[in-house]
Amino acid sequence: MAHEKFHYKTWEQLQERASELGFTLPAARDMSVLEQPLAAGNARFANRLGIAPMEGADSTPDGAPSEYTVRRYVREAEGGSALIWFEAISIVEEGRSSATQLLLSQENLDCYKKLVEQVKEAGLKANGYAPYLVMQANHSGRYSNPGNKPAPLIAYRHPELEQYRAADDNCIVSDDYLKGLEEKFGEAAYLAKQAGFDAVDIKSCHGYLLAELTSAYHRPGQYGGSYENRTRLLKNGILAAKAYEDKDFAVTSRLGIYDGYAWPYGFGVSEGSGLVPDLAEPIRLVREMHEGLGLAFVDLTMGNPYATTHVTRPYDMGKYVPDEHPLEGIHRMIQGIGAVKKAVPDMVIWASAPTYLRQFADLYTAGAVEEGLCDGMLFGRMAFADPTFANEIIKDGRIDPQHVCLTCGKCGDLIRAHKPTGCVVRDPQTFLPFYKEFLEIKKSQPANFRG
Ligand SMILES: Cc1cc2nc3c(=O)[nH]c(=O)nc-3n(C[C@H](O)[C@H](O)[C@H](O)COP(=O)(O)O)c2cc1C
Repeated sequence: MAHEKFHYKTWEQLQERASELGFTLPAARDMSVLEQPLAAGNARFANRLGIAPMEGADSTPDGAPSEYTVRRYVREAEGGSALIWFEAISIVEEGRSSATQLLLSQENLDCYKKLVEQVKEAGLKANGYAPYLVMQANHSGRYSNPGNKPAPLIAYRHPELEQYRAADDNCIVSDDYLKGLEEKFGEAAYLAKQAGFDAVDIKSCHGYLLAELTSAYHRPGQYGGSYENRTRLLKNGILAAKAYEDKDFAVTSRLGIYDGYAWPYGFGVSEGSGLVPDLAEPIRLVREMHEGLGLAFVDLTMGNPYATTHVTRPYDMGKYVPDEHPLEGIHRMIQGIGAVKKAVPDMVIWASAPTYLRQFADLYTAGAVEEGLCDGMLFGRMAFADPTFANEIIKDGRIDPQHVCLTCGKCGDLIRAHKPTGCVVRDPQTFLPFYKEFLEIKKSQPANFRG
């Protein structure tokens, strides 16, 4: 079943397949809802279309943006999206995902100021509005790989994840280390504000350190066990960042509400719920983020892209063949996000992961907004393939099928190989040479690219 490739010529055909699988996906007949502006606290978004954080592995050695980084974001800003949620930017050297992951520091702050200025100007010039820019502050935790050598910093031992990436008890970070990170998130917010970003995201998703803590049910000490302890670093990181909040600078979070692992190895599940999401804790957390911590908007996502990739980003081609149809992943994602939105209706919620739907992602997004499942959508792989998807929807009426992402997984290969990352299929002049380099490396080191 999972081998079935995307073959739908019409939305009706796609919906028919979904109903054979036992559900329907949201859909709208016209896209006008997507043109509507959106306000969240002091934040203003020109429309309901945004770009999801997509790591490009193209920084200079000190973590500053390179010409590839600038090119990516300028093209995205020209494409008409109201919001660009920048990729994971490391807050500390030891938490970098690669030697070419962006890292923002006092030393390279000016390079980020310039990047933000160029990106805002590009949007303003092309569309008459500058996109809202969020900086994603991250610690890679288990996936720390500074110097392109795995150096995992983990919250707790996770047998399934350690099948893919070795870790031992020495990799478990101490409570003192975690306590020190709280202020690092504050510093990241300060630097993001200085750089000119509109907001900072205290990231807690996709198996990185803060997200891993949310499922540290058996970790002893201040950061494990109870719900309060498991969410302590996230909340204290948000509080540290909020010291810099004002009318022009907000704090937000990209939150993983389900990891794709049964209790006690995943968030968004409970003892006995197996792989079926139990969103009681994610809903409680989003409510507390809104009512207690005063966040006006968040983005919600699912899965661990290193291990439960199909949960984060349903695909046609990837490292493994999942035992579910990709449309089931789309359904799980929007139903989960919709359940949180319905439980915390005043929180502005950006949803994730529409790209598998190709040229129908616009109908789906408009339907999801109309049905009150989210307020807007962040497009990930689609933005690499077609950075102008938003203008195609808003100005031309629909996404151009000739431009869409084919979910072939090649951008995922590039990022795993720490090569500048983008769409090999739609932007071959820039990215095919890097892909060829990746294939060479894979040939000589097959063990590093198994699966
Ligand atoms: C190459 C690549 C890089 C990514 N980098 C990030 C990242 O830096 N931060 C993040 O939160 N998610 C990251 N993601 C996940 C995407 O933001 C998004 O959640 C996922 O691709 C699903 O959305 P889509 O179906 O629209 O592609 C990345 C995904 C890919 C394929």
